This record gives sequence, C-alpha cells and structure tokens, in this order.
Amino acid sequence: MTYLIAEPCVDLKDRTCVDVCPVDCIYEGARKLYINPAECIECGACEPECPVEAIVIEQQATDEEAVHLADNAAFFYDVLPGREQPIGDPGGANVLGPVDADTPLVADLPPRSS
Ligand code: F3S
Ligand code: F3S
Repeated sequence: MTYLIAEPCVDLKDRTCVDVCPVDCIYEGARKLYINPAECIECGACEPECPVEAIVIEQQATDEEAVHLADNAAFFYDVLPGREQPIGDPGGANVLGPVDADTPLVADLPPRSS
C-alpha cells in the first residue's frame, strides 16, 4: 500500500507536500510530482497538505485516481521519454533533483487552463 499523487497536481506542482515528507520520497517531474511506492512509509503527512487534494492513499482511490497508482510507479520503473534508464529508487528526491520528463500518461494530458 502506498500514497499516490493524482491528476490535480498536473501543471500546478504546489510542492507543499515535499516539505512535509519525512523520507523525501516525492519526486518532481516536468508537469507533476510522483510518490515513490517503495520509499513511501505511509505516514500520511502529505495528504492533508495538498491544496487541491491530489494525494490519496491507494485503498481510498477512486477509479480515476487509481490510474495514477500504476502511473506513479511507472515514473520510477519505466524508462521515461528522453531518458536512457529507469529512475528506480534513488533514496531521496533531493539526491536526484527535478526530472525534466513525465510518464506518457501525464505528458499527453492537455495543458491545464488556469
Ligand atoms: Fe502536487 Fe499537491 Fe504536492 S499540487 S506538488 S501533490 S502539494
Ligand atoms: Fe512521504 Fe509520508 Fe506522504 S512518507 S509521500 S509524506 S505518506
């Protein structure tokens, strides 16, 4: 079980969640952030901090949100467009830094109109 970040984060990237995660397992992509499912300790600290309620725990995800469970994992374990290797489990978002790529699902979403 893990927490995941769903579509409301796209093109917003508020990042308040990053500041409260005790294990630094929320990683930044080009248009969205992603929770590493292997590194998340399910503490729940991030969930109430997101102003657009993009963060949910797997067990409570709606069908629409649940798509992002596999997609959060894909950010780490698939080879993202423009990269040569999977990101894997770096052990901290600070170690890796922002990634200038997204999963194909997120990259193909239409721009969010503000
Ligand atoms: Fe995104 Fe919400 Fe975090 S918008 S960056 S999931 S605080
Ligand atoms: Fe991090 Fe806890 Fe959320 S480990 S991703 S703040 S559930």
